[in-house]
Amino acid sequence: MQSFRVELGPASHEVQIGEGLLDRLGELAGLTGLRGRCALITDTNVAALFGGRAQRALRAGGFDPLTIAVEPGESSKSIATLERVYDRLIEAELDRGASIFALGGGVVGDLAGFAAATFLRGVPLVQIPTTLLAQVDSALGGKTAVNHRLGKNLIGAIYQPRLIVADVGLLRGLPEREFREGMAEVIKYGAIMDAPFLELVERDLQPIMARDAAMLEAIVARCLRHKGYVVERDEREAELRSILNFGHTVGHALENSSGYGRYLHGEAIAIGMCAALRLSHLLAGLTAAEEERMRRLIGAYGLPTRMPAGWCSDAFRQALARDKKRSAGGIRFVLVPKLGRTTSRTLELDEILPLLAEV
Ligand SMILES: NC(=O)c1ccc[n+]([C@@H]2O[C@H](COP(=O)([O-])OP(=O)(O)OC[C@H]3O[C@@H](n4cnc5c(N)ncnc54)[C@H](O)[C@@H]3O)[C@@H](O)[C@H]2O)c1
Ligand SMILES: [Zn+2]
Repeated sequence: MQSFRVELGPASHEVQIGEGLLDRLGELAGLTGLRGRCALITDTNVAALFGGRAQRALRAGGFDPLTIAVEPGESSKSIATLERVYDRLIEAELDRGASIFALGGGVVGDLAGFAAATFLRGVPLVQIPTTLLAQVDSALGGKTAVNHRLGKNLIGAIYQPRLIVADVGLLRGLPEREFREGMAEVIKYGAIMDAPFLELVERDLQPIMARDAAMLEAIVARCLRHKGYVVERDEREAELRSILNFGHTVGHALENSSGYGRYLHGEAIAIGMCAALRLSHLLAGLTAAEEERMRRLIGAYGLPTRMPAGWCSDAFRQALARDKKRSAGGIRFVLVPKLGRTTSRTLELDEILPLLAEV
């Protein structure tokens, strides 16, 4: 088991990583001063797999959980689902002494996190991420949100959890495709801030894909420590936190333009990283050998590495131009001049498109 603290003044909190921690959830949450009534927010897939264990662990730690299971999938990150969650919390007469436990992937984490940020002007939140993507990325950092029909994550808040419990044993049953997509974010941390980590991820592909618990504990802990380092220095993404957007500029544009459901987030980010690596070679001095090595690594994890046929649609161009990292008339890219280091460049749409044709 590993643990560390994210230092954010009054919002500082512990992060615990290890196999079997779900069964100690009540005890661990109790150590942060929580107890009594709580809502366990999850989705129906995760409830079927781990709901019973989570409830037992909470009861054993002195909690009285009300379980709220939403439909699985991105469509639950909606104002309509949020309203149903509020209905249940209010009908059950949960008061300010109650807490919210988010057990699930990034969808549940973002939805339950926003519910915790807003219900009664904020109640304590515990994140228990159950996908690789959520364990290495979304559970830490305090970004919570629901989607609006006009765009993703438009309604949200920065709200830090009281505790994060990442039980890597829960990843064993995660579908292969969802596991691979999480590896895109793992590789991202190596590319932007930890070149030696890339060697480990290259060398240990087999035990990682076999979901060896000790290996996963080491990986999740290393990624979360990196994210914690960044968030401690720039919680609100004034500057440093934007390095975490490596691969996300083109990735988001692909997600938004290629039709809902074609790519999982991590798959689009894998292509986006290959695009950012190409730009890093062409504009920032990354060597061709390093670019090729990264493309091989991303491909080795079964992730896509090339722009799809027909990528340069009107929808793609519009999505890229709308990117929220757009600044001073251009589109801002995080680039890696050297593996483990970042820089940024602001480019015009017309400059970018011919370069992307080479990805
Ligand atoms: N807050 C942030 O900083 C942040 C960062 C990145 C992504 N996100 C958000 O995360 C969301 C995507 O999250 P996700 O990829 O975890 O998807 P998800 O939450 O939809 O989970 C994927 C699927 O896996 C199932 N599942 C979850 N855990 C499982 C397990 N252990 N075993 C078997 N099945 C399991 C779920 O029921 C779901 O069907 C997006 O909405 C994205 O916007 C947020
Ligand atoms: Zn991402």
